[in-house]
Amino acid sequence: MTDNKAISRETLESMLKAINMGVLLVDHDCKVLFSNHFMSINSGRSAEELVGRTLFEVFPELPEVWTRQKINSVVTLQNFAFTSWQQRPHLFNFESTRPISGLVGHMYQNCTFFPVQDADGGSLGVGLAISDTTDTAARQLELTHLNELLEEEKSAQALLIARLEEAQAQLLQSEKMAAIGQLAAGVAHEINNPIGFVCSNVNSLRRYLVDLFALLDAYEQASDEKHAQAHPELAAMRDKADYDFMRQDIDELIVESVEGLDRVTRIVKDLREFSHVDSYEWQLADLHKGLDSTLNVIWNEIKFKAQVIKRYGDIEPIECMGSQINQVFLNLLINASHAVGVDGEIIINSGREDGGVFVEVVDNGHGIPLDIQNRIFEPFFTTKPVGMGSGLGLSLSYSIIVKHHGRLTVESEPGRGSCFRAWLPLRQPQVQAHATSAVEGC
Ligand SMILES: Nc1ncnc2c1ncn2[C@@H]1O[C@H](COP(=O)(O)OP(=O)(O)O)[C@@H](O)[C@H]1O
Ligand SMILES: [Mg+2]
Repeated sequence: MTDNKAISRETLESMLKAINMGVLLVDHDCKVLFSNHFMSINSGRSAEELVGRTLFEVFPELPEVWTRQKINSVVTLQNFAFTSWQQRPHLFNFESTRPISGLVGHMYQNCTFFPVQDADGGSLGVGLAISDTTDTAARQLELTHLNELLEEEKSAQALLIARLEEAQAQLLQSEKMAAIGQLAAGVAHEINNPIGFVCSNVNSLRRYLVDLFALLDAYEQASDEKHAQAHPELAAMRDKADYDFMRQDIDELIVESVEGLDRVTRIVKDLREFSHVDSYEWQLADLHKGLDSTLNVIWNEIKFKAQVIKRYGDIEPIECMGSQINQVFLNLLINASHAVGVDGEIIINSGREDGGVFVEVVDNGHGIPLDIQNRIFEPFFTTKPVGMGSGLGLSLSYSIIVKHHGRLTVESEPGRGSCFRAWLPLRQPQVQAHATSAVEGC
């Protein structure tokens, strides 16, 4: 232990003056009684200039009301008070030079207010101990900043994960759809054969019935009154069977059955064309057939909403993956049917252009606002209510067309309608060698 009495007042004062933190002593009126070197160096004023004047004259940046309150409370309660750089970063307007970069900035400070008594134990005033916390503050602020960046990255990752999960769900869904498509195509394939022979049998039956009725007519004409009297049971049988009605009805039944069979044949054909299980490879395909089968598949969805006008041009078969191009047509047509209101109209144009072919789906719907026209091809971008749109139709279509070395573009006028245009080359550059020569519908 050091003996306090051995240290002179001058020694203590010179220590206070030299210490590497600010020391001030003020009286109850905030008049400066003592100020050390730290305060002079940082304020640019000598101790003589500071002492004898109020804090607010020499340090105008100090908040007067707040400072007086602090000093009064320390005097009254004879307690310590503290303010940290987080609450008041720059209490005194001092500068600080960073050791490595040499950059000059505001000094961050902590300040302790402590009661000071005179030799008789009476209250002399309040001491202020000001420490430079710029290093700590700089590190802390940098950490906070890094933390914020990490948080931002974390939420960006969370968003990404959510999107990935959604994409995976979508992928599963499309795999499911593909499986259903294959199943449908398989069933369609299986039905194709029996439907074929039922059709042919019904047609034969129809011919036989014509002959059979002709034969019956001939019998009727040949039989005379005598013959009828000899065989009254024949007339009874005829009445019982309601022969005249049956004859007429058989004709109608046959006509209806042939119509029904035609419809089944068409549905089976459309299903096979649309799902095109055998076309997951590049083939020459007739786009008009693809458009027609796609239209048939979604006809129920479209027929009450819009009138469909086909303006097919003269185009030749192109090398493509039929089922994928049909998927594009499906997305464009469904979007168009979602966009139209009363008096909806969807026009399908096709033609040759630029050494390739184009297909346009034009609607007279609500159109696309200018500010979102460049976003509609983004995955998950949708303006439709939850459950109505996944926002994947156009992005999927875009990637299919790009994979085909084509272009998918849009022109739209809000309030008047939209035109989606797919342009496709006649042949694929890298797969030319594998193209089959068979011409297939999409
Ligand atoms: N024919 C169209 N008319 C107006 N807006 C359209 C049309 N086609 C697409 N859009 C806009 O583009 C968005 C994205 O379309 P899409 O990728 O097919 O996703 P979804 O149909 O699931 O919303 C739609 O939500 C819609 O705002
Ligand atoms: Mg869509």
